[in-house]
Amino acid sequence: MSCINVISRNFSTSVVARAAIKNVTVVGGGLMGSGIAQVSAQSGHNVTIVELNQSVLDKTYKSIENSLQRIAKKTFKENPNDANAFVSEALSRISTSTDLPNVVQDSDLVLEAIVENLSVKHKLFKSIDEVAPKKTIFASNTSSLSISEIASVSNRKDRFAGLHFFNPVPVMKLLEVVKTPETSDETYQKLMAWGKAIGKTTITCKDTPGFVVNRLLLPLMAEAIRMLERGDASPRDIDIAMKLGAGHPMGPIELADYVGHDTTNSIINGWHDKFPENPLFEPLKSLQKLVDEKKLGTKTGEGYYSYKK
Ligand SMILES: NC(=O)c1ccc[n+]([C@@H]2O[C@H](COP(=O)([O-])OP(=O)(O)OC[C@H]3O[C@@H](n4cnc5c(N)ncnc54)[C@H](O)[C@@H]3O)[C@@H](O)[C@H]2O)c1
Repeated sequence: MSCINVISRNFSTSVVARAAIKNVTVVGGGLMGSGIAQVSAQSGHNVTIVELNQSVLDKTYKSIENSLQRIAKKTFKENPNDANAFVSEALSRISTSTDLPNVVQDSDLVLEAIVENLSVKHKLFKSIDEVAPKKTIFASNTSSLSISEIASVSNRKDRFAGLHFFNPVPVMKLLEVVKTPETSDETYQKLMAWGKAIGKTTITCKDTPGFVVNRLLLPLMAEAIRMLERGDASPRDIDIAMKLGAGHPMGPIELADYVGHDTTNSIINGWHDKFPENPLFEPLKSLQKLVDEKKLGTKTGEGYYSYKK
């Protein structure tokens, strides 16, 4: 290998190291945002969580504290001092704010985990595109929207990508890094490195509906619901079949109840509107009925199963 190659490789490595993501802004402190903020802080990153108001931020902070304490108790069983240090160190890296334009000034990565609505996400990214430093990467944790469509309102499409986490974030090991045709290789490499630094296993996916996991899971749940609707088998039998016959940890009907029927229904309907010819995305009558009746699954105590005592 030539000397110039070695020098240029060392130079580019040091540039990347210097440019690594250190300060992260997580917008949205709900279920996903709080988990993302937690794993980022746990792994040594400075995190600012941005929410609509301070009372949500207080709740988010408290839920992160509780989650860290649970982990500390398990990890440092014999050593309460180390457990306390783990919790307080991680918490010391987390701050909260309601002033997004101000917070982004110091941010290497702005990761959005707000409501799953394209126009709300557009409004958010539009509000910071001009004020965020040039180096700042924008990312969305959307489950079902197109990253290119979200990025379309920004002038930094090369520094825009999808970072799709899984619930519960501190437990689930996977991170899908979603590249649009315009995401630059530098942005992609930085996000892959950051994903590894926060302890996730990263996979890469194009900006295609549902990325990898949801593109396979949603049609599975939908097909299981179609079996129910046709009366082919009971919910219990479908779930036992997939657990014992396919080794799945949860059956597809249980999974649908766990995910929440409002979420599943809006994803399926959204994909159907966009790709009406795809039979996998056909709307489901029984799912719509459960949504109309507010029987959304485990979170409301009833879905395809009842969770009421
Ligand atoms: N829930 C899941 O299993 C899951 C998994 C992967 C990805 N996602 C995606 O992550 C995103 C968030 O989902 P969630 O389940 O955490 O939702 P959530 O409802 O628990 O949290 C969303 C939070 O965003 C806040 N918010 C809304 N608009 C805001 C704004 N303009 N500025 C700041 N905060 C704002 C809300 O107050 C709320 O606390 C969605 O895009 C969803 O598709 C969800």
